[in-house]
Amino acid sequence: MRAGEPAGPGPLTAEEIARYVVAAAVWAPSVHNTQPWRFTADGQQASLHADATRQLRVADPDGREMMISCGAALFTARLALRSLDLVPQADVLPDPGQPLLVARVSWPRRAACTDFERRLFGQVRQRRTHRGGFDPAPLPAGLLDTLREGAARYGAVLLIVADDGRRAALAAAVEQAERAQRLDGDRVRELARWAPAPGTARTDGVPPTSYPARAEHTDPDFPGRDFAHGRGWGLPPLSTASRFRAAGVAALLTTAGDRPVDWINAGQALQRILLTASTSGVAAALNTQPLEFGWLRESIRTGLGDGAYPQLVLRFGTVIQAAASVRRPPDDVLSASSSDDGDTGEG
Ligand SMILES: Cc1cc2nc3c(=O)[nH]c(=O)nc-3n(C[C@H](O)[C@H](O)[C@H](O)COP(=O)(O)O)c2cc1C
Repeated sequence: MRAGEPAGPGPLTAEEIARYVVAAAVWAPSVHNTQPWRFTADGQQASLHADATRQLRVADPDGREMMISCGAALFTARLALRSLDLVPQADVLPDPGQPLLVARVSWPRRAACTDFERRLFGQVRQRRTHRGGFDPAPLPAGLLDTLREGAARYGAVLLIVADDGRRAALAAAVEQAERAQRLDGDRVRELARWAPAPGTARTDGVPPTSYPARAEHTDPDFPGRDFAHGRGWGLPPLSTASRFRAAGVAALLTTAGDRPVDWINAGQALQRILLTASTSGVAAALNTQPLEFGWLRESIRTGLGDGAYPQLVLRFGTVIQAAASVRRPPDDVLSASSSDDGDTGEG
């Protein structure tokens, strides 16, 4: 059974439910498509663990982006349960002794899935991260309010950076970070490990089928990450693409605190935002480069983030997308729960 397909006749076993949930959750976004998660299933309960072997040790030494990615997987897992008319109960960071145990999720009751939830779930496999500029068309009316409300459900704030000066300042921070990243050998090597060559059989990392071969510039310019590293990899330009590319609506996703629980909540908010936008045909680009440099993150926090902690830099817009991504098969990330122990966060 694949995520997004009808559950089939008859009640599912707990094992089938866990498989269905994980098959959907793996389609969450994650930094460099590291998919830094694993799942264990035990009766009517599944546990989501951060996989620290997939953490970006150079760019993400605190595991902030790893936990955001896991939060996005948690939101997707909960949504998958809703698609089965089950009501998820999630216990986030349930054990202080196991900092990598992101959440335990059970499904104690039933309630019919709403139309909105079903539409969101329909986007789990369709949604793709966009890399480049957007068409000049405005966003559908009311969408930004809906996205803001979605973020607030997880204690996060989607701050639209509408003012031209502030938007230019945010773009300049992305540009500065991208320049610093390209000059730092450790960062370049780490990125290269998650940027496989064309034709790769890998099921993680950012494949050349998911970024443009020719960087698209916008005004103000939000440069993308250098996955190809001068090797010409990437998608050819779409013949229908207009030459004028807009930067789109720029935004910061912020949280009042900056602890692992805030990162997980930011990830849940992120996936809700991305899937909601996708139901309206709106794509998102992520430019989180400046948040991987402490000094730039701090200057964004104080200068643009109203003092709250920036967790993600996003741009929204409409675009024809040709990007494709990959995921590890659910069997690679799901195991029966021998125990939740041994997950001390060390090593
Ligand atoms: C915390 C986080 C940070 C990310 N930062 C960037 C980024 O700076 N640039 C980018 O192109 N994509 C970024 N992404 C998107 C991932 O690269 C993307 O989710 C992953 O490659 C899987 O592709 P998909 O989203 O199309 O399924 C980020 C995702 C997360 C969760």
